[in-house]
Amino acid sequence: MIPETLKKSLTNRVQAAVTPREAAVDVMKELQAHYGWLTDEAVVEAAGLLGLSPLQVEELATFYEMIYRRPVGKKVIHVCDSISCWCADCDGIIEHLKKRLGVELGGTTADGMYTLLPCACMGRCGDSPAMSVGDTPYGHLTPHLVDEILEKERG
Ligand code: FES
Repeated sequence: MIPETLKKSLTNRVQAAVTPREAAVDVMKELQAHYGWLTDEAVVEAAGLLGLSPLQVEELATFYEMIYRRPVGKKVIHVCDSISCWCADCDGIIEHLKKRLGVELGGTTADGMYTLLPCACMGRCGDSPAMSVGDTPYGHLTPHLVDEILEKERG
């Protein structure tokens, strides 16, 4: 159950949108921030706020790779495996991340800090190979730089 203040602000956002679907990503992201991931309960709540069915919300949620329908770590790493990054040896970077974090793609570290996910082109092809940690993008990755980023992001 979301707090009344969050419900009110999301209701206002939906009302300000031209169509409810226009507000769908914002609503899902806010609920995700509240729960940590888009839980089944959040899907039902989003549907209620947007005037859509839970199935329609589910379809939207699975379309966007920044919406998580399963529990994730405190920070999600999206590592690009599209063509430009592949040419710049993203496979080597992905292998390094897997080794350093002790997880496969889709996995979450034992301490709950990081979830590692592949992603389609992030629009940073000129910085290949690229990844993001949370909302922060990183490019020109090397194994050494990846280690520094993981350390810095761990706080
Ligand atoms: S292919 Fe990786 S950012 Fe475009």
